[in-house]
Amino acid sequence: MITMKNVTKRFDGTGAAAVDDLSLDIPDGITVALVGPSGCGKTTTMRMINRLIEPTSGTILVSGRDVRAADAVELRRHIGYVIQQVGLFPHMTIAQNIASVPRLLGWDAGRIRARSSELMQLVGLEQSMLERYPRQLSGGQRQRVGVARALAADPPVLLMDEPFGAIDPIARTRLQNEFRQILKRVKKTVVMVTHDIDEAVRLGDRIAIMRDGRIVQYDTPETILSRPADGFVENFVGADRALKRLTLFSTGSIMTPGTGDASLPRVDKDGDLRDALSAIVAARSTAAAVVDEEGKMIGTITQAAILAV
Ligand SMILES: Nc1ncnc2c1ncn2[C@@H]1O[C@H](COP(=O)(O)OP(=O)(O)OP(=O)(O)O)[C@@H](O)[C@H]1O
Ligand SMILES: [Mg+2]
Repeated sequence: MITMKNVTKRFDGTGAAAVDDLSLDIPDGITVALVGPSGCGKTTTMRMINRLIEPTSGTILVSGRDVRAADAVELRRHIGYVIQQVGLFPHMTIAQNIASVPRLLGWDAGRIRARSSELMQLVGLEQSMLERYPRQLSGGQRQRVGVARALAADPPVLLMDEPFGAIDPIARTRLQNEFRQILKRVKKTVVMVTHDIDEAVRLGDRIAIMRDGRIVQYDTPETILSRPADGFVENFVGADRALKRLTLFSTGSIMTPGTGDASLPRVDKDGDLRDALSAIVAARSTAAAVVDEEGKMIGTITQAAILAV
């Protein structure tokens, strides 16, 4: 869906390239998380995909077409963009913000109204908020509007720059989960920038770790966490990478089905293996009983099974 070939960006009057001979292939329908330290070139990489920044050299294809050949309006219809720090237009209402691309595309008022109302529902916001201004919303609500605005014209490609950056960890995890649910309903190719490796692991089908304008490793979260390419990646993903890797597996997928033992600590089948291990350690046990949504015991998970994953 998106191909970058030997792309370099050198800003005028600067020494080192912001993006340095970068190549990246993003298949249709997956979410790629670009992660790396501040200033490593994540935003620049993303903004070259929708031509907000022109590459110094190299080629970028979206759906097989060179972005340099595309018309700007056509490109925006095709690529939704969630800007770092949300970037809603402060003097426009939420409704006007969401309508910005559809209006550019010449949709009539009725169609825009229907679409806005559908999107507010999708991102879990009250319809009455459409008439408010961005400053009358909380940070998390504004981020939801940012996502709704990017989805407005139903683009196949979504670029998101730190989409959940400005919110507290609890609301952030909830929004990440909601976003994952949204992506199940509306199939998109997503490029997401984040500083947060946990967010990348939670949302990315693949992770690209960047350093100094280059990609150091581009792999699935499982591979990044189990086989970091070098010391930089190892350091970046953190000393607890073995525990982070356990978050990739659900308890239900590893348990042994059965009636369970009522004396064991209980864990949710939809929870992840890190939480299951934590519950086992907290109870000084060697196993836990797995329960379903109704709290019924449906199996057992052992410490040994978790360690064997
Ligand atoms: N318009 C510009 N002119 C000159 N240098 C720039 C410009 N925009 C970005 N840079 C430089 O390019 C490098 C990469 O910037 P970029 O914004 O892509 O980083 P980033 O990885 O998104 O960082 P952050 O995580 O802090 O958002 C930085 O060194 C930055 O100072
Ligand atoms: Mg950035």
